[in-house]
Amino acid sequence: MQEKILDFLKRKPDYISGDLIANRLGMSRQALWKHIQELRDAGYDIAAVPHLGYKLLFSPDRLFPIEIAGGLNTKFTGKNIHYFDSVSSTMDIAYDLGVKGSPEGTLVLAEAQTKGKGRLARSWFSPKYKGIYLSLILRPVLLPNQAPLLTLLSAVSICEAVKEITGIDAQIKWPNDILVNNKKLGGILTELNAEIDLIRFVSIGIGLNINNDRKSLVSGATSLKEQKREDVNRVELLQEILRKIELNYLLFQEKGSPCGPSRRGLASADEAVGAKLIIEKWREYNITLSRRVKVYFQKEYIEGYAQDVDIDGALLVRKDSGVIQKVTSGDVTHCR
Ligand code: BTN
Repeated sequence: MQEKILDFLKRKPDYISGDLIANRLGMSRQALWKHIQELRDAGYDIAAVPHLGYKLLFSPDRLFPIEIAGGLNTKFTGKNIHYFDSVSSTMDIAYDLGVKGSPEGTLVLAEAQTKGKGRLARSWFSPKYKGIYLSLILRPVLLPNQAPLLTLLSAVSICEAVKEITGIDAQIKWPNDILVNNKKLGGILTELNAEIDLIRFVSIGIGLNINNDRKSLVSGATSLKEQKREDVNRVELLQEILRKIELNYLLFQEKGSPCGPSRRGLASADEAVGAKLIIEKWREYNITLSRRVKVYFQKEYIEGYAQDVDIDGALLVRKDSGVIQKVTSGDVTHCR
């Protein structure tokens, strides 16, 4: 209900009558007043003037579920939001929710993380109110070894949303680093809960540096604020990321993932159309292919030419011997 009240207040830059809001939302004036008080307690500055009504003077820079839900217009993504001012890691919360059966599209959001997790057992710096830290639960019809495609899909969605909201061109370093001007803007951590041939759920963890000042960033990192030289609206960007993920995910699943809707596991040409569409989009943003790379994979360094990505999202590296090595995980260094 608060989301609908906020929607009224945001659409009218001037005072809006309390009677009108209460009537439209089918509630008493007393009930409306109670909701206004709760919004004020959450940090919204709302003026109330007799005979004129209410006017929104200030909205706090917070990723409140009422902010995210307002105007989101997705089918299932972000319909169920778990919001935390601070949490150890959104991945842990999402895992518990996934095990308990939370539906596809459930979103775990935090303003800060005390034990933010990065890939390869690294930590993820998650200062309060500066970034976007989320985990999204998906339940795809996909074989476990094809889950990396969801990382690629999320990376594409982030680049598309960043471009749309800020005009900034972001790039992807295989598999999941989001870069701007060769500095790390964000990353994706994909965790699986699966049996041998069945994914129960996937948590897509996304961390992005948004309004961090230059001096507070770790070495090699950047933020949208540093790039744009102004603050970026985190709510608008987050909403766009969720919309893009949903669009790409539906495209991917409707067109047929590599294992196909029947879960048989073998990719026929038709069934892999969705995967190919995502990989085509990924190619547009990637800065890894056609370069000499070095990757630490299965306890050894592999050096060679990054030739392509496979239908399951793995990197295909052509070694100097001519042998093509399939790399399914690891950290890539671009050599030149
Ligand atoms: C990487 O190493 O590049 C991946 C970083 C992923 C960080 C995000 S922040 C939200 C979610 N919760 C975590 O603890 N990690 C992911």
